[in-house]
Amino acid sequence: MSSVEKVTIPSLIKMKKKGKKIAMITAYDYPTALLVDRAGVDVVLVGDSLGMVVLGYESTIPVTLEDIIHHTKAVSRAVKRALVVADMPFMTFNVSVEETIRNAGRLIKEGGAEAVKLEGGEEVKRVVKALVDAGIPVMGHIGLTPQRIAMYGGYHVRGKSVTVAKKLIRDAKALDEAGVFSIVLELMTAEVAKIITEKVSVPTIGIGAGPYCDGQVLVFHDMLGLFERFTPRFVKKYANLSEIILNAVQEYVKEVKAGEFPSEEHSFYMKKQKYEKLLEALGKKQEAEEK
Ligand code: KIV
Repeated sequence: MSSVEKVTIPSLIKMKKKGKKIAMITAYDYPTALLVDRAGVDVVLVGDSLGMVVLGYESTIPVTLEDIIHHTKAVSRAVKRALVVADMPFMTFNVSVEETIRNAGRLIKEGGAEAVKLEGGEEVKRVVKALVDAGIPVMGHIGLTPQRIAMYGGYHVRGKSVTVAKKLIRDAKALDEAGVFSIVLELMTAEVAKIITEKVSVPTIGIGAGPYCDGQVLVFHDMLGLFERFTPRFVKKYANLSEIILNAVQEYVKEVKAGEFPSEEHSFYMKKQKYEKLLEALGKKQEAEEK
């Protein structure tokens, strides 16, 4: 049996030090998690993007802690090598420190995640520190944080002005000081992401944040063409699975309607002798009933 070298928080930090890039991707179910782990990703995120790409909501806001626990259980049953991180949904880490610790604890204990991720910078420093003190590893997430989309007024690239750039750098430093093991940088200028990456001690994972981050993350359904509502410019589509699935299911419908499926190959038959015996028995029964 071949042994897999498990990705751990210290090994991710070592990767930053050695200049080795980190590959992260989202997954929300068992078969997908098996595949992405086999493909060699370092981190699997059960993101609250789940709400949009799997559950059909307009945004990530309606996603509940129960949703993430349910999907994290499936993912953590599949993943052997990568680090499994579970997202903390909107309002599950903002109410009080006690509730944040309880909620994050459930993602680890019930979901089987190895770490949690939460959105925010300076303003979440206190809860991040409390989680780390409680022994729960935290991945930060700054930039265009989707849970605050209403405050930003849309999906606009952050860090184009000096004021916002300075705020993003302060956010990253605050998270680093609070003890995060990594920070997702979402939709910001490449220059600001580069400065942050050089200034913090932990790996930065970019999504729409240019090439200078220590790693990259993409949403599984975006990069494989499974989410057709919109595709942000920073997403590279590595396949068009929607088209493949559509063609396959259309073919199936056509064959069922034409009586072509199932063929002999996909059917099971009785031995001829047994079948004849059955018919004989049924015939006798019918005769008796008719008398
Ligand atoms: O929910 C998610 O998938 C995320 C990634 C975009 C980083 O937070």
